[in-house]
Amino acid sequence: MRGYFITFEGIEGSGKSTQVAMLKKKLEDRGVPTLCVREPGGTPVGQHVRKILLNPETGDLDPLTELLLFWAARRELVKNVITPALEQGQTIVCDRFADSTTAYQGYGRGVDMEIIDTMAKIMRNGVWPDRTIILDLPAGAGLNRALDRIMFKGSTDTRFEDEGLEFHRRVRNGFLKIAESNPDRVKIVNAEGSLEEVSEAVAGALEDILPELSNPC
Ligand code: TYD
Repeated sequence: MRGYFITFEGIEGSGKSTQVAMLKKKLEDRGVPTLCVREPGGTPVGQHVRKILLNPETGDLDPLTELLLFWAARRELVKNVITPALEQGQTIVCDRFADSTTAYQGYGRGVDMEIIDTMAKIMRNGVWPDRTIILDLPAGAGLNRALDRIMFKGSTDTRFEDEGLEFHRRVRNGFLKIAESNPDRVKIVNAEGSLEEVSEAVAGALEDILPELSNPC
């Protein structure tokens, strides 16, 4: 049987990576084979493109160039990693996917939504999330968390975190609109609770398609 494709979305500092790791552990503890991937990245070409997109030295990019680079990296991941793993029956948990492009390049940068949707149809190789979890919190709180993490880790890939608060507010608003338009696929989880509370809420938002999550270990 084909595996499920689960994506996590949200603004900077929403805690996606931690929740991706917690969900993987929960699923594997219950015998569900799970592969985690992240975007942009996850393939050799994706890693190169990631550097271009996230390094502040890249400077301003034309929004359509940026859109094409995100989709170039994603297409490699979809064709070479996600599609084969789903066909082998693995559940995929992906840290960001096409909704990030709608939120950041569409709502954030103002790229025409028709172009965004057309690109998605052309490039997705028949793959689309079965369920998307949006970890939601106010843009200011998320950005502060992200900037603290950058200081702590000394990360230099800050091209998006360097954008102003208004940009991140538009992105958050974009994610909320995506959820409103896709109520069956997209579920919003409040990201401001403790790690355990958020993880419980994530599991609750997946139990209808992954009933194993309601089993105790
Ligand atoms: P990353 O370091 O992976 O950040 P995060 O931990 O917040 O996921 O950086 C990915 C950045 O790229 C993030 O700021 C969001 C942005 N992005 C887009 O603008 N469009 C996209 O399609 C994707 C996948 C990410």
